[in-house]
Amino acid sequence: MTKILVTGGTGYIGSHTVVELQNSGYEVVIVDNLSNSDIQVLDRIEKITGIRPVFENIDCTDFMAMTNFIEKHNDIKAIIHFAASKAVGESVENPLLYYSNNLFSLVHLLKLMQNFKISNLVFSSSCTVYGQPDELPVTESAPIKPALSPYGNTKQIGEEIIRDTIYANPDMKSIILRYFNPIGAHQTAEIGELPNGIPNNLLPFVTQTAAGLRKELKVFGDDYDTPDGSCIRDYINVVDLAKAHVIAVQRLLDKHVRDVETFNLGTGRGLSVLEIIKTFEEVTGVKVPYKIVDRREGDIEKVWANPVYANNVLGWKSAETVEDTLRSAWAWEQKLQMNRKNSQN
Ligand code: UD1
Repeated sequence: MTKILVTGGTGYIGSHTVVELQNSGYEVVIVDNLSNSDIQVLDRIEKITGIRPVFENIDCTDFMAMTNFIEKHNDIKAIIHFAASKAVGESVENPLLYYSNNLFSLVHLLKLMQNFKISNLVFSSSCTVYGQPDELPVTESAPIKPALSPYGNTKQIGEEIIRDTIYANPDMKSIILRYFNPIGAHQTAEIGELPNGIPNNLLPFVTQTAAGLRKELKVFGDDYDTPDGSCIRDYINVVDLAKAHVIAVQRLLDKHVRDVETFNLGTGRGLSVLEIIKTFEEVTGVKVPYKIVDRREGDIEKVWANPVYANNVLGWKSAETVEDTLRSAWAWEQKLQMNRKNSQN
């Protein structure tokens, strides 16, 4: 079996990717410091796939611990690097946390790849690198705009670090995946998004409000230059997103990548915040109380992907409808509430 190291493999996108990798016959080893995830995710992955991935609680910025781990697993053929901090607001308050977590871990990982002759890297990047694009839908060749947050900057700098390293090391290859807005949960409702405290992202806030955990959702602005005035994003199903990682890894292993390739992972369709709320209410039959408040600082007005390059080169396309994706997010939230109640009794 081909062994893949997944950093951040117990996190939201990481856990869904581990499931897809195992279902496709890869052997997965995970490192994660559990800073934004739960160890029980391993039980859930095992429940879905029948296989418990190897796991060690390691912070990717800890070079010695990572070295020891990779020495033990000296047959790793590729790395998928998810482990990173991702809260935009927190990154503005604590930039050094973001620069150290996100960039030290990447630099260390690339050094380890050199030291242990691991050739293949898949990197989690973000549509945030485009800022507010001049043209929509946005293609991979659109200019990179100055980052609006230290978080966004770590993704831009991370991409540059990878490119420089790959160009200097002809044996190393990488696929950079720029995610649009991942939402939803696994169809089994065993794994999904587990936000720490008050959610920053839209969907967990929607589902927690629908579940009665939050009084109302704040819609950040209705005076944008969009049809209904609220911001527009490209919401991509997390399982679809996970599947793209399996394809990317196989493409690297098949030696189809010359040096670095970069792909947008989105649906190609933009939806407004108000459309998301309305569709969620329609498919679940549950009301989401909301009120319009001021714009959130740093928000982009509208962005959605041109996914044609990924469609053509990776042979990957988002498959789930937004309706089914919202249903899966709701099923996951309900399961979380049920588990919470059971643990209180
Ligand atoms: C942001 C980052 C993205 C990052 C992601 C991870 C930017 C431009 N985007 O995505 O790179 O990967 O966070 O956390 O920096 N909204 C509300 N009410 C809420 C929450 C959100 O109205 O309570 C709205 C926002 O204004 C936005 C949309 O919902 O229009 C999506 O917001 P969110 O889920 O936070 O994602 P982004 O800001 O798009």
